[in-house]
Amino acid sequence: MNHAIATLLNHRTYRHFKTGLTLPPEHLQTIINCARQAPSWMNGQHYTIINITSPELRAGITALQPANPQIGTCSTYLVFVADLHRAGLCSRAYNGTFSAAGEPDSLITAVTDTALAAQNAAVAAESLGYATCYTGGIRNIAAELVALLGLPENTFPVFGLCIGTPDIEMQLKPRLPENTVYAENRYPEE
Ligand SMILES: Cc1cc2nc3c(=O)[nH]c(=O)nc-3n(C[C@H](O)[C@H](O)[C@H](O)COP(=O)(O)O)c2cc1C
Repeated sequence: MNHAIATLLNHRTYRHFKTGLTLPPEHLQTIINCARQAPSWMNGQHYTIINITSPELRAGITALQPANPQIGTCSTYLVFVADLHRAGLCSRAYNGTFSAAGEPDSLITAVTDTALAAQNAAVAAESLGYATCYTGGIRNIAAELVALLGLPENTFPVFGLCIGTPDIEMQLKPRLPENTVYAENRYPEE
């Protein structure tokens, strides 16, 4: 089994991280490079990744999200923002007609691009030996994040990704039976 497959099959979420550790800059750079290399709709890369490096800001977000205290203890916390703002700017700059607002398909595009980039980051981090935890719970504090992170119109914080060194070991979680989530040619029998 190659290293990529072994990393994927070994995935589990960790929620307890050793504190006071930082990622070496070259590891962080590799993780960001991998995120940016993800495929995206028409190579539009409809996401922005915000690394919360300010301790005060990290503490502020953690306080607003008591359900996810690991935001405060992980080494690196990345917020993944679905981003149609940049596409709008580009369109306007070239007299285009792109309109993000009110288009359900644009929302799917941005969220899909964001999720693929994030999962590349997660797999890269795990392959480097780090533990990860997504925090979709931050959508409950989206309004506060918009203000704290200066998010412009047509952007939305989809989730955060905690990266760090695990403090408590976690077990693999079971998955649904394969025949409920995978089928050939037709939706699976009920
Ligand atoms: C988009 C997304 C959002 C998530 N949000 C949270 C969260 O807010 N808090 C948390 O503790 N885990 C969160 N998780 C982790 C899931 O609970 C976890 O992946 C799932 O229970 C399966 O467990 P496993 O990753 O250990 O296999 C999230 C996962 C995903 C993919």
